This record gives sequence, structure tokens and C-alpha cells, in this order.
Amino acid sequence: MFDIIVKGGTLPDGRITDIGIEAGRIKAIGSLDADAGEVIDAAGDLVAPPFVDPHFHLDATQSYGTPRINASGTLLEGIGLWGELKEVMTVGDMVSRALTYCDWAASMGLLAIRSHVDTCDDSLKGVEAMLHVKDEVKDYIDLQLVAFPQDGLYRDPTARANTIRALDMGIDVVGGIPHFERTMADGAASVRDLCEMAAARGLRVDMHCDESDDPMSRHIETLTYETQRLGLQGRVNGSHLTSMHSMDNYYVSKLLPLIAEAEVSAVPNPLINIMIQGRQDTFPKRRGMTRVKEMQAHGITVGWGQDCVLDPWYSLGTADMLDVAFMGMHVAQMSSPEEMARCFDMVTHQNAAIMGLGDYGLHIGAAASLVILDAANPIEALRLRAARLCVIAKGRVISRAPRMDAALAIPGRPDTVRRRHKVQ
Ligand code: FE2
Repeated sequence: MFDIIVKGGTLPDGRITDIGIEAGRIKAIGSLDADAGEVIDAAGDLVAPPFVDPHFHLDATQSYGTPRINASGTLLEGIGLWGELKEVMTVGDMVSRALTYCDWAASMGLLAIRSHVDTCDDSLKGVEAMLHVKDEVKDYIDLQLVAFPQDGLYRDPTARANTIRALDMGIDVVGGIPHFERTMADGAASVRDLCEMAAARGLRVDMHCDESDDPMSRHIETLTYETQRLGLQGRVNGSHLTSMHSMDNYYVSKLLPLIAEAEVSAVPNPLINIMIQGRQDTFPKRRGMTRVKEMQAHGITVGWGQDCVLDPWYSLGTADMLDVAFMGMHVAQMSSPEEMARCFDMVTHQNAAIMGLGDYGLHIGAAASLVILDAANPIEALRLRAARLCVIAKGRVISRAPRMDAALAIPGRPDTVRRRHKVQ
């Protein structure tokens, strides 16, 4: 007797199978002829593990237009605007906006999020708010929080002390922003300092690193070196790494093997990178996203992150990791069938590996979290940004959505007009 059996789903690798769920865990995979509290007929639809976002800002989401918009569209104006906003935002505001986003995420099958939390203000209200949200959503979303000194560990006079306080309060991961420090030397020193904090506490590291068009922004080199020196292999991630787009090719040919050797992973954020980078360029204008396929060819784990939805840096977004992967595959020119399928794997398994999620995946013993998509395979899911027909989190159905809107169907071309699930 199972709690739930998902019948006849197509796994991302093409196998068609049943999945038996009991007490929040996957208990059986194969042809199941048993009783269950509920049988969900997947009818050949794609059944995938949940989407994972390894880079987000829950403390800022849903604040678009408050108190004004980012007129230049640059990272630096966004940081200034966030500085105005966090002065007036309350813990209650941040909790309420973040919980709304978590509802959107759940409906999209996005069930694990790593969120950076600003640790610069002396009140640490963002930290207080996000720790509350983490507890509130724990039955359906695994929320990992990163202590993020947005205004610079050294550039802001109290950021270092406040970041340490945030870690003492229970924040999971050590973050940083070396390219925003006053000098390259301060940036490198901040990377060293923060990696030492993580090593001393046994924590993971995830830094905003080289989010810049400056080809000489090379903090990823220091991050890689410190990972090796401190024995942090497999626990460190570099987010953005956009300067690598503009770096000298010879330098990159030396850099990538070092990143691979140190087992440092990478998370580009394609929606935000393509919107924010290259703003000082005329034409030709740089894409400003890091070298994804080139890193993967060196064996470096690369995921895709969402970064922002409706905040001072990005005015759109729906918590849909298929949108993120869809943009990423275009900007990185990942057009072969193998590369397109890999983009789906990046927003599921690769992102889960970057976050270190232990019980993730569709295998016996894993947490019973999965999503049934209105698509036959991962590439079709990307092409259609397919509806999430059913989302199961830790053994419980938390969201259902209708299949394609029949009214929009074009006779003879039924799969071309599947309407995306619209978040209410
Ligand atoms: Fe970010």
C-alpha cells in the first residue's frame, strides 16, 4: 500500500515507469500493481525531479518599482536602489513578498532555492525575515540561505561584523562580492577572508564573483586558489563569472583547468546577465554571459540560476526555471539535442549537486518530490516551457494545473500551441 503511485510517466532518460511513494520517500520504481491512497496517471508525460534554483534573492523579490525603477538598467544603479529600499522595508514586507514568490515557485515545480540575503544593515532584518521564511516553507521548499554582504565586506564599514552575526544566527552558506570592493586587492582579500570563515565553520561558499564586463576582474582565480588551499573542494561556487566572457583567451586556457582541479562550480544567471551586462558597450555589444560549454568541456559543474524576479535589477520573471534554461541555451548557443537536454539537466540535477542536496532525484530512498510536465521529454519541456500538471513535494501533492488549453489548439498541430501554465 503506497500513499501515491504515479503511473506510466516518462523519465528524463526516456524510461517509462511507475513511481511508488510512501511516508515522503520514493519507495519503488518499476511496474507497480499495488493499492495506493491516490493513483496519478502520468499517461506518458515527462516526470522529472523538481527544479532547483541555486541563485536567487528572496529578500528583494516582488519589490519592482519601489520606490522607483532602475533607469540605467545597470548592476550599480540596482545596488543603489536596493540601498534606498532596504532602509524602508520591514521584516513583514520581506516575509510576505518572499512567501508569495515561494507560492509561485511551488506551482512551477521549483522546490529548492539557494537565496542570498543582504547582511549589511545593522538590524539584519533581511536575515530575520528569511530565516522565518525558511522555516515557514520547509515542508515543500528546501531553502538554503547565503550571507551576502551586498555593499562589500570591506567597502561597507559594518558588513564584516554583520556577516559574522548572520552566520551565527544560522545562515547556511558564506557569500561575497569581491568585484564591488574598492580595489582589486580588497576584493582578493575579501575572498580569502570569507573562505577562511567558511572553512572554520564547515560551511559552503557561494560568491557573486566577477559580475563585471571588466576582463581584468579575476577574482575567480583567487576563489579557486583559496578553495584549493583550504581544502574546500566540491563546496565552493562562483556565481555569474561574467568577466570571463571578456577575458583574454590565453588566460582562460590556464584558468579553466585550475577551476576544474579545485572542483569549483559555476552558476551563470542568463536572464539577468544578458539584461545587465554590456550596458557601456556600443556595437558590437557583448553578450556578457560566462563561457558555459567551455567550462563543461573541462569537467566543471555548471548550473543555471534565476537571480532576480521583479526587483531593482530585473523587472520580469515568473519563478520558471524553464525560462531561465531557455534563455541560457540561446545565449550559450547550446543547440544540439545533447546540449538542449543538458540545459534541462542543469536546472535539475546539476543545480542540486551545486547546492549539495543529499536526497534529491528519482531513485528509491530519495525525497518524494517530483513534477509532471505537459511534455514528452526534456527538450519538448524547454521548447514549450510546458505546464506543470502536478507537483509533489516530500510525498504530498501541492499543485495541479490543467493540460493545454483546447481552445487554443490548431487542428493537426496539437503540440505547437500548448499554453503555459499562468501563475495566478
Ligand atoms: Fe545575485
